[in-house]
Amino acid sequence: MNRIRLGMVGGGQGAFIGAVHRMAARLDDRFDLVAGALSSNAARAQASADEIGLSRSYSDYRDMALAEAAREDGIQAVSIVTPNNMHLPMAKAFLEAGIHVICDKPMTATLAEAEELVQIAAGSKALFVLTHTYAGYHMVREARRLVAEGALGKIRMVHVEYVQDWLSEPVTGKQADWRVDPAQSGGGAIGDIGSHAAHLARYTSGLEIEAVAAQLSTFVEGRKVDDDAQMLLRLSGGAKGMLWASQVAPGHENDIRVRVIGDKASVDWCQTRCNELRFAPLGEAPRILTTGGAGFQGQTRVPAGHPEGYLEAFAQIYSDAADAILAGSVPDHLPSLQDGLKGMRFIAASVRSSADDARWTRL
Ligand SMILES: NC(=O)c1ccc[n+]([C@@H]2O[C@H](COP(=O)([O-])OP(=O)(O)OC[C@H]3O[C@@H](n4cnc5c(N)ncnc54)[C@H](O)[C@@H]3O)[C@@H](O)[C@H]2O)c1
Repeated sequence: MNRIRLGMVGGGQGAFIGAVHRMAARLDDRFDLVAGALSSNAARAQASADEIGLSRSYSDYRDMALAEAAREDGIQAVSIVTPNNMHLPMAKAFLEAGIHVICDKPMTATLAEAEELVQIAAGSKALFVLTHTYAGYHMVREARRLVAEGALGKIRMVHVEYVQDWLSEPVTGKQADWRVDPAQSGGGAIGDIGSHAAHLARYTSGLEIEAVAAQLSTFVEGRKVDDDAQMLLRLSGGAKGMLWASQVAPGHENDIRVRVIGDKASVDWCQTRCNELRFAPLGEAPRILTTGGAGFQGQTRVPAGHPEGYLEAFAQIYSDAADAILAGSVPDHLPSLQDGLKGMRFIAASVRSSADDARWTRL
């Protein structure tokens, strides 16, 4: 199988997620990284490209989109791994050049930008994939499959949390600076990790978040964005839920956990024990499902008992993106443009609700 020629925007020296995307894209041998505009600073873009042996380096993403679209051997897809406010202009440039976009979350900085992006994508033959990493874990997919096949019965409750501590104090640095600047991030914890939590709740339960009663707080004095978000959820089909996203909870690293509870059984998954899924039918002893279990139907790279983790989950998103590009459409199990739009509606509704004393607010 020919590898897909990939470009990258962002992910230069000192950046975080760009390097993770590069590892993920390589892991299953489906992509070749051949071009990049790795930084907004021309010299750093070139130095970053040299460091990873990338021969085609651009100092501007717009030049890159035009030049790559004009080349016989130009990139077929691009990864966008920059701060949130750049996602829309960058995705626009590449979609309009007919190049598939693999973009990190949240989809944009504002809901209006997300709506504009949906219009732009409708006018392009190129696909858009959103990298909600947690949808790539095999045990998250197993939870989704069990819910979909009715093993839990009717879903009553969905509880999800994504809790960190790295912004507990007034931190500065590359990753922190743009995240606490509303112009670049669009918002705080609610957008940065609340978007992941909301997607995970929808992805595992198969339900839509219809309304929120949200309390967004800023615990660190002087910070211009929220750093903690707690809320009640109303989901489709009458299910009820809770979501907590925090970046100021000392002792919590990347504690993401989801519990889906039906009238017959529940499932419980957390990233710190990501190779296990707790499945507990009513009146029976709980079972810890693993990839070696008789019922397991997902994809893994290594035999049962060898753990897979964050990088493999990310690689799964990339493998699925490669399949989508070859098939010409984004399948249901892969986070999409519509998921990105729903994520931005969720963020906007949470902000509105919180500003109105946590009043119930429809998405
Ligand atoms: N899926 C996940 O689990 C996950 C995890 C972390 C971050 N993210 C998302 O990834 C994105 C980047 O986050 P990060 O933590 O890697 O940020 P970062 O600050 O570490 O890196 C951002 C990079 O973008 C570059 N950049 C900025 N403007 C640019 C431009 N005009 N042209 C080219 N490059 C430009 C910067 O130079 C830097 O290299 C954000 O949208 C964030 O929300 C997703």
